[in-house]
Amino acid sequence: MFTMDFEDGKWQQGRIEPYGPMTVSPASMVFHYGQAIFEGMKAYRQADGSVSLFRPGRNIERFNKSAHRMCMPEMDPQVFMDALVQLVSMDEAWVPDGEGASLYIRPFMIATDSFVGVRPSERYTFSIFTCPVNAYYKDPVKVKVETKYTRAAPGGTGFAKAAGNYAASLYPSKLAQEKGFHQLLWTDAVEHAYIEESGTMNAMFVIDGVLTSPHTSETILSGVTRDSVLKLAADLGIPVAERRIAVAELREGLKSGKVTEAFGVGTAATIAPMALIAFEDEELPLPAYAEWKVAPRISTELDALRRGRIEDRFGWNIPL
Ligand SMILES: Cc1ncc(COP(=O)(O)O)c(C=O)c1O
Repeated sequence: MFTMDFEDGKWQQGRIEPYGPMTVSPASMVFHYGQAIFEGMKAYRQADGSVSLFRPGRNIERFNKSAHRMCMPEMDPQVFMDALVQLVSMDEAWVPDGEGASLYIRPFMIATDSFVGVRPSERYTFSIFTCPVNAYYKDPVKVKVETKYTRAAPGGTGFAKAAGNYAASLYPSKLAQEKGFHQLLWTDAVEHAYIEESGTMNAMFVIDGVLTSPHTSETILSGVTRDSVLKLAADLGIPVAERRIAVAELREGLKSGKVTEAFGVGTAATIAPMALIAFEDEELPLPAYAEWKVAPRISTELDALRRGRIEDRFGWNIPL
């Protein structure tokens, strides 16, 4: 794991050491006031046997945006990138090459001042660890449109990858799971009338043949997969739109057959197809995944690109 401390107003020398427990004071501010942010990205074994990181620059940028919002120190992007490359180079043998498998990379930062009282910490620890992961479970999921609880509100921290966002989402997700749903479709905090995200993924729908995703905002995390899927789709000649999607539009579209595909997109699963969407008083199924045209095509193309099986025409793969 890579570790670097922030003290005396600046980042100190980083170090790579064996993965293991960290020793911190019980009074560390992270435990009490929640200054904690993280990122998630992957390294892929390429067709030629080498290893590439997928768009790490986007994660570094997003990490610094999260840091800024949480009053935490930003990282020099080059120092962050060098740490990633060095660490993954040392862990190279752990990068699997099975279909769908990859090395997951988890950078994070926590507040380490021993201090009781609410203010920004003056000391932080930044760390990165990695972990080989297998292909994700791909069966289509049942999702419920959430109209009571909120993941993110205007003026809040939804656009940041702040640990507290995830803690707050556990209870409503648990309630949905108890009713037999795998995941929530989050709606806006004000009216609960517009679709925002799908669990911890960005949401996408094919509406009248157009690949449509809610536009990013201060309440939606700007996903790297979302951006990649939209760019790839446009490049493949698939019509694309980023706009508000009303819950009512989705419901009507599922009934009329205008909505033909619905899926979440994120680093963990890449594409997670939905089998049905539950509204307050009815459950509406999607057509069977085998009939989908857009998501399977993009999923195959994105996978081939990340693994160096086709030309990386966007310059997204960063070789070690
Ligand atoms: C809330 C939320 N939305 C969307 C995403 C998807 O982002 P990405 O594609 O960068 O993994 C994630 C996962 O990182 C997330 O936690």
